[in-house]
Order: sequence, then C-alpha cells, then structure tokens
Amino acid sequence: MTPTDLRLEPGTFTALIGPSGCGKSTLLNAVAGFVQLSNGALTVDGRHVDRPHPSVGVIFQNFALFPWFTARGNVEFALKRFVRSKPERRERAMAALKEVGLEQHAEKYPGQLSGGMKQRVAIARTLSADPDVLLMDEPFGALDAQTRLRMHELLTDLWMQRRKTVLFVTHDVDEALRLADVVYVMSASPGRIIRKVDVDLDRPRSVERLDPRFLELRGELLGLLRHDELTQEE
Ligand SMILES: Nc1ncnc2c1ncn2[C@@H]1O[C@H](COP(=O)(O)OP(=O)(O)OP(=O)(O)O)[C@@H](O)[C@H]1O
Ligand SMILES: [Mg+2]
Repeated sequence: MTPTDLRLEPGTFTALIGPSGCGKSTLLNAVAGFVQLSNGALTVDGRHVDRPHPSVGVIFQNFALFPWFTARGNVEFALKRFVRSKPERRERAMAALKEVGLEQHAEKYPGQLSGGMKQRVAIARTLSADPDVLLMDEPFGALDAQTRLRMHELLTDLWMQRRKTVLFVTHDVDEALRLADVVYVMSASPGRIIRKVDVDLDRPRSVERLDPRFLELRGELLGLLRHDELTQEE
C-alpha cells in the first residue's frame, strides 16, 4: 500500500483507527474538502476534491449545532442551500428528526438536549441533505458508554436502510468492530495506512454476546496499534 491509499467502496461502512495525532482528522478533512493535500490525489466518485461538496456530509465530535436555533431550526438551516420552499424545508427537517427518533423534541434548543440527542440532531441535519458519503470524526467520543451503544444501534439501522458510503474515524477498536465492514489502521505520525482488515461479522452485532471472531479481530487490531506504539518508542 502507498502511504495513505484509502478506497471507500460505495455503500460500505469503513472505519479508520490509529493513535492520537496520526492524522485521522486531517485525512477526513481532506476528503471533506476542508483542507488541501500537498501531495497525492483525492477523488470522490471521479470528482477531484478541492472544496466541500453537497454529496459529502460531515458529522463532528462536538455536534456543531447553533444554540439559538431549535433542533428543527438547525436542520432547516442546513437545508437552506438546497431547498427554496420553507414548508418543504420544514417537512424534510421533521422527517429527518423522526428518523433519529427526535420528533417529540423538534422544538427544543440544543441546551435542553442531552449529548446523545444533540448528536442525533447533527445526524438528522446531515442526512436531511441526503449526501452519498457520510464522514464522521469520533462522533460519539463525547458520549457516555450506554448512550454510545444506543447510537451504534441507531447508526447501524440508518446505514442498513440507506446504505450510504461511510468513513468513520475512531480510536476505539470495539466501536470500529461494532460498526464497520472494513477497518483501516493508521500508524503514529507520520501517519501511514498500515493495514486493511475486513470485518466478517454478521449484523446486528451484539455487545452482550461477543463472537469469538470479534475477539480475534479485536486482538489483531490492538496488536497492530500496540506494535506501532512500541516501534515509535525505539
Ligand atoms: N499528512 C500530514 N501532513 C501534514 N500534517 C499532518 C499530516 N497528518 C497530520 N498532520 C498534522 O498532525 C496533527 C494531528 O493530526 P490530526 O488532528 O489529524 O490527528 P488525529 O489522528 O485526528 O488525532 P486525534 O486522535 O487526537 O483526534 C495536526 O496538526 C495535523 O495538521
Ligand atoms: Mg482527530
């Protein structure tokens, strides 16, 4: 593999893991068109990427909601770029909030919502624009363990219904194994993609009953990260 040879297959859920500071967010931001590459080439669906594009949606760790808009207002605001009619924006925003189970909370402000609910608003906002590619940078990193598990179930359901192409950055090996079809492993800085691991586990993936294959894959991924850490120390 060349230094960062990453290929997202259409409709596939790909996770990217690696130690802190290896450049995961940088890579994701380059795919989003937020930062420019100094070297190499990046295309999405054959289109050269040099700026953000509506076919690519991004979800961040810190939710990035406007505190002065309600949940519905946040989704509607994001739709302004694509949908001219106000009633249609409202309808699409409500449909997206319903998809993430928040129709009862549409009129609440971010300050009145829990972390998991805020992230669901952010997911609704991104999905309402119907992007082909969904980029998520540690989206559940700020949530407690229980909420994170519920978000994994929600995301798995949404993904199974819509089959978006997803790139999901995390440093949590278990999270990657619960969600992804393919896991790319990056080494510590300078970040390189060192391995591509196929996750051959059926969905839905239970946390209560771990498959022996899950444990095997976990061992393999932790080993790769650990090995990289040891080589860095030498
Ligand atoms: N290929 C690269 N070329 C130049 N600078 C890079 C490259 N990759 C990462 N960096 C720089 O390294 C720093 C850390 O990168 P980044 O934030 O992407 O890491 P990360 O893997 O997302 O870390 P964390 O897990 O802590 O979020 C940033 O300042 C970024 O600009
Ligand atoms: Mg990061």
